[in-house]
Amino acid sequence: MKLAKPACTDPVILNQWHVISALDEIGVGVVNQTLLLEERVSYSITPAGECLVWRSSPELPAGAPVAPAALDRAAALPVKPEYGYLWTSLGNPPAELFPLPEYHHPRRRNMNAGTVGVSTSAPRAVENFLDLAHFPYVHEGSLGVLPHTEVVEYDVEIRDGEVHATKCDMLVPKVGVNFDAPVVMRYRYRVPHPYCVMLYYDSLPDPSIEDICAIWVQPMSADRVRAHNYMGVIDDDSTDTDIKSYQLLIFAQDKPILENQHPKLLPLDPRAETPIRADRSAIAYRRWLADLGVTYGVVPARV
Ligand SMILES: [Fe+2]
Repeated sequence: MKLAKPACTDPVILNQWHVISALDEIGVGVVNQTLLLEERVSYSITPAGECLVWRSSPELPAGAPVAPAALDRAAALPVKPEYGYLWTSLGNPPAELFPLPEYHHPRRRNMNAGTVGVSTSAPRAVENFLDLAHFPYVHEGSLGVLPHTEVVEYDVEIRDGEVHATKCDMLVPKVGVNFDAPVVMRYRYRVPHPYCVMLYYDSLPDPSIEDICAIWVQPMSADRVRAHNYMGVIDDDSTDTDIKSYQLLIFAQDKPILENQHPKLLPLDPRAETPIRADRSAIAYRRWLADLGVTYGVVPARV
């Protein structure tokens, strides 16, 4: 079968692993569908537990039974079930996804705290997640509190090919659903993938173990995404519904902000949007994307 030329021509993005679904939300034995980089993609899990992803051509309707042997192998796409999610690629991905050794800690509760469609680009979603300065304004009473709007100096570096922001101290009224008192939380951020970002913080029951809150962003197109909210927490008391509800409450506050940003693509030209001190991680992220050569979901810098 002759395959059409891909809509995304950015080799950096084409060759990434991209998240398309939480594993426990995939209909077993039937066709599930989504959009990745403007291409229709189908996926399934067989009753034996094998993950399958393929280009939706010829298209089988969503919900139709899947007969793996009958699928066109030329349309098959790379498959990686990892960290509770299904990842695939439209190009030639690396052997491994980014490491997340904390995922396997025996006390950790890993879950998808909701997948939300957002009319924005993947880099805008990541940059917003990195931005501490919006906490008191957008998440007043939960992740921040007025008038405590100052963002203290924090460290940003590129380490092991990833963006790291550390010593991000913030007065936080309610860090997670199980936190019941305001604390000055020392957050750290990690961006190991152009469209994935994690936030780490000391867990309440055992501060020697970090909770992880992340968004792994699926680029449906350059300016439309599904944000998969990964949570990996040390919390023996809250129900899954409690944890997911709190995370979705936070994300619901971000969604209209994201959808009203203009342009939807993230400008990489350092002169495009005036930086302030609190934007140091955003500046590092934009520069890192430019250095990687990412052109999809961004307005590339003029040279
Ligand atoms: Fe936010």
